[in-house]
Amino acid sequence: MTTQQKALLLKTKHGQFTIENIPIPTPGPDELLVKIESAALNPLDWKVQAWGIVREDYPIILGYDVAGIVEKVGPGVQKFVRGDKVMFQAGPTSNYGAFQQYALSKAHLTAKVPNNITFDEAASIPVGVNTATLGLFSHGITLDGDALYPPYGKSGHGKYAGKPIVIFGGSSCVGQFTLQVAKLAGFSPIITTASLRNADILKELGATHVFDRNLSSSALREEIAKTTSKPLEIVYDTISIPVTQNAAFDITAPDGYLVLLLPEAIDPVKKASQPKHVIFHEGATDSVFDESNRIWSTLTGLVEEGVIKPMRVQILSGGLAGVVEGLDLLKNDKVSATKLVVHPQETA
Ligand SMILES: NC(=O)c1ccc[n+]([C@@H]2O[C@H](COP(=O)([O-])OP(=O)(O)OC[C@H]3O[C@@H](n4cnc5c(N)ncnc54)[C@H](OP(=O)(O)O)[C@@H]3O)[C@@H](O)[C@H]2O)c1
Repeated sequence: MTTQQKALLLKTKHGQFTIENIPIPTPGPDELLVKIESAALNPLDWKVQAWGIVREDYPIILGYDVAGIVEKVGPGVQKFVRGDKVMFQAGPTSNYGAFQQYALSKAHLTAKVPNNITFDEAASIPVGVNTATLGLFSHGITLDGDALYPPYGKSGHGKYAGKPIVIFGGSSCVGQFTLQVAKLAGFSPIITTASLRNADILKELGATHVFDRNLSSSALREEIAKTTSKPLEIVYDTISIPVTQNAAFDITAPDGYLVLLLPEAIDPVKKASQPKHVIFHEGATDSVFDESNRIWSTLTGLVEEGVIKPMRVQILSGGLAGVVEGLDLLKNDKVSATKLVVHPQETA
């Protein structure tokens, strides 16, 4: 096997991406070396470059979603062999980054790709499903006095029948997986916001009601009140810009939980006057990767059964060079209900 590979490097904070040859890393204990067939793009990738946030380990290799083929297994790995098709959330450091031809992954946070989906589709899953499940189940949210129980195994399926959930941004990547996890857990109704052209896709994933993302906060409240009179104890804002955070906070029930994916931007006066739990789920940190997130042990089966479906994908040409164009599309809000994917092996 060759010892060198092509990688998309960001050498300095706020710098430009360049493609260079670098050594292929060696897997350690509990690690796999994966030949990356498909790598998907996330908004965090452009934010790290443009805003200089999250990463300090320059030069860096970005990219957080991978699907590929196991090339080597590290010492002690039992569950995988060379040739297995796998998917995993890449990062948080460069040897594990998605925008290269070979990356390391932690075996316990890696799932096999079942035969009913392609590598491109598989690459749309890891960050979305991780963020959906960790956002809901790793922050001590309680319902009726008990910790929210995850639906990874059959005992959690359908547990929350009759409990409403609201998911802002159902057609975002995190939104699509949160809808599916909420459906598996039995929540109903499952209310979401999106552009209405995406309503059919979101209903297939589990939404029972799709409201226009452009409704004012008060109009949205009125529509939801026509849908359910139950308290909205769990609201997940997968967009988390100031306007959605404030609308989401307004509809969250007293003592209810609002999950955010970006730092809090709720009007402090409003927040101080209302007893609601606001959770900032901060992904792409070491804790996400260290946590033994049980979704990874059941994910293959859930995807094989069609319970968790991948996103619609759009392939960018040029191998790793296509990442730059894709990040521009994401930055300018030009991507709707779709995951952008590159093929690192096609890099010139
Ligand atoms: N903290 C974490 O762990 C974590 C993890 C992942 C992502 N994030 C952050 O979460 C956000 C979403 O990430 P993503 O990858 O899921 O995004 P994405 O897939 O790139 O989001 C695109 C979608 O956002 C929807 N959207 C945009 N503005 C909206 C609004 N005001 N209301 C409702 N929907 C809206 C659009 O819906 P329509 O096309 O239907 O209009 C579009 O389909 C980003 O800011 C990202 O950086 C954080």
